[in-house]
Amino acid sequence: MAENDLAATVHHSDGSYPIIVGRGVLEQLGTRLQQLGVTGQAYIISDENVFRIYGRHAQRSLEAAGIAAHSYSIPPGEESKNLALAEDIYAWLAEIRAERRHAIVALGGGVVGDLGGFVASTFLRGMIFVQVPTSMAAMVDASIGGKVAVNLPQGKNLVGAFYQPSLVLADVDALSSLGQRGLSEGWAEAVKHGLILDPELFDLFEEHAEDLMSLRGDISTEVIRRSMAIKAQVVTEDERETLGRRILLNYGHSIGHALESVTGYGHYMHGEAVSVGMMGAGHISQALGLIPAEVVERQRKVLERFRLPLSAPGIDPDVILDKMTHDKKTEAGSLRWVLLEGVGQSVVRRDVPPDLVRETVQELTL
Ligand SMILES: NC(=O)c1ccc[n+]([C@@H]2O[C@H](COP(=O)([O-])OP(=O)(O)OC[C@H]3O[C@@H](n4cnc5c(N)ncnc54)[C@H](O)[C@@H]3O)[C@@H](O)[C@H]2O)c1
Repeated sequence: MAENDLAATVHHSDGSYPIIVGRGVLEQLGTRLQQLGVTGQAYIISDENVFRIYGRHAQRSLEAAGIAAHSYSIPPGEESKNLALAEDIYAWLAEIRAERRHAIVALGGGVVGDLGGFVASTFLRGMIFVQVPTSMAAMVDASIGGKVAVNLPQGKNLVGAFYQPSLVLADVDALSSLGQRGLSEGWAEAVKHGLILDPELFDLFEEHAEDLMSLRGDISTEVIRRSMAIKAQVVTEDERETLGRRILLNYGHSIGHALESVTGYGHYMHGEAVSVGMMGAGHISQALGLIPAEVVERQRKVLERFRLPLSAPGIDPDVILDKMTHDKKTEAGSLRWVLLEGVGQSVVRRDVPPDLVRETVQELTL
């Protein structure tokens, strides 16, 4: 087991956990769980798409390490992240007599990770939890940091917890079945990590965009590792989002969230909406004199090479602006903007003039 598969370690108030990233590392699942002290049983929670492709592989690895592998597959998609499904999984776990020292393994995208983590955080007041992210978005973002949740009809992620996994195991080979659009939108979050905190990571995107888009060579693993390490660093510094550090990860999200919401989730994939949002935030950063036009241009070119949208033509700007104002009210404060001060340098500002926001959203929707 190559220790150079270790991309980062997340430290939190109750301990720490490793982030293991590499090609073919799914094979190590069983032995890694053994190292965590898991014996007896593990419960793979997955979705039907992912389980069909990787489920047997994960089960075999667990069984080779002497761990009995049970599995539960949910229908794919955001609609599955709900309390009713969590309850079905609780009933299943109770039926097969799951114990606290057994592990829940979330094998899939962010939906499976959030739901599986929510179940792990609550069943028996907390079971061992392992994240095996298979989508790009789950790898570089959702699997790290311990936010677990389900949605309510009233809104996304309204019921949840901070519950840290004991291990994140990301097999880059799994990304090959994702499809081009899923890859592109996942890369958007990774590019964001470079833009807010790591100029050298951003350079790698500029140098290797096409290789990354086709997952060629070792560069994809290197860049995913580095991007996961950025998220690991941020959540280590600000475990519960109280210190103003974790908010930097929201670069592109003020406009992005509103766009996703007003177009009905599913029209724009999350990373696509964030890409449009990053163009808006870049424009605002430039207008405030924080960055020169050249930085916005570098951002634009990279997003374009990852085949991400740069604008949202035809969407009513007032509807987006209304949604942003509504979100601001529910957060009970002025809208906090994450802006760029350079490539790899970000800042939070509360003083963005409303007229500038309006003009920016209007331009994005032309
Ligand atoms: N906890 C956090 O910090 C955090 C952060 C960001 C997002 N999220 C959550 O993550 C969710 C979005 O995650 P997502 O984008 O991974 O969505 P997802 O889990 O719905 O996965 C997207 C689609 O890709 C498929 N898929 C996943 N891996 C695959 C693979 N290797 N090959 C083929 N198909 C594959 C899934 O079956 C699904 O149809 C949202 O619910 C969001 O709220 C959580």
